[in-house]
Amino acid sequence: MSTVETAADQHAFVPVTLDLGDIVLRPWGRTADVRGGAVPGLLAAAADPAIALWNPIRVTDEASAEAFLDRCDAGWASGDSAAFAVLDGTDATLLGNVSLRWTNRADRLAMTGYWLTPAARGRGAATRATRAVTSWGIATAGTRRIEIAHAVGNTASCRVAERCGFPAEGTLRESHRFGDGKYHDEHLHARLATDPEPA
Ligand SMILES: CC(C)(COP(=O)(O)OP(=O)(O)OC[C@H]1O[C@@H](n2cnc3c(N)ncnc32)[C@H](O)[C@@H]1OP(=O)(O)O)[C@@H](O)C(=O)NCCC(=O)NCCS
Repeated sequence: MSTVETAADQHAFVPVTLDLGDIVLRPWGRTADVRGGAVPGLLAAAADPAIALWNPIRVTDEASAEAFLDRCDAGWASGDSAAFAVLDGTDATLLGNVSLRWTNRADRLAMTGYWLTPAARGRGAATRATRAVTSWGIATAGTRRIEIAHAVGNTASCRVAERCGFPAEGTLRESHRFGDGKYHDEHLHARLATDPEPA
């Protein structure tokens, strides 16, 4: 095995629960314990217009929801991606999702993404959850640089990225096709492991 492969192998995302008190982040997967069930929770989230536009999760029925959970389990098993269900810390109501995945594991380059259910928005939950996941990724998996890309029109996501310590680096022109079937310009934000913790 080459030196690079050996190094990459050490940078696995290992399942963990991140307890923020009123919010708890648990690994998504078939055994995810979500109030009312993970599959109904995913189906409701996928039907939200903002998630369908900015963060389509390819869940339309029970089978595709289970496929989503299987992809999450596979990501954890390989150490390539870390998908967390963001849950109410009291009753495990589904609040959202934060994921972190390697785009180049040997080079320790990763990307994060997030969505919240409509009822969970507007109280900083995405910022707190994303900060927790990115700090955990830096501390435990050795992520060197984590990127966030969002459509230029998605102001709320831009604010979350900035509040999580990911300054904007530039605009990617027509770089991604979103849920409306159109290519949008995106802002690229990034946080380096050497950056200071956000205030
Ligand atoms: C993006 C998202 C996760 C933000 O989560 P949130 O916890 O609700 O964020 P907040 O309500 O705390 O808002 C963050 C900031 O955006 C602003 N904001 C929120 N909604 C906005 C809107 N529709 N237009 C403009 N600004 C908005 C808030 O005022 C806040 O600004 P501040 O930092 O100056 O206080 C959530 O809106 C969401 O899930 N959207 C749908 C999916 C999505 O866009 N995912 C990201 C894909 S890159």
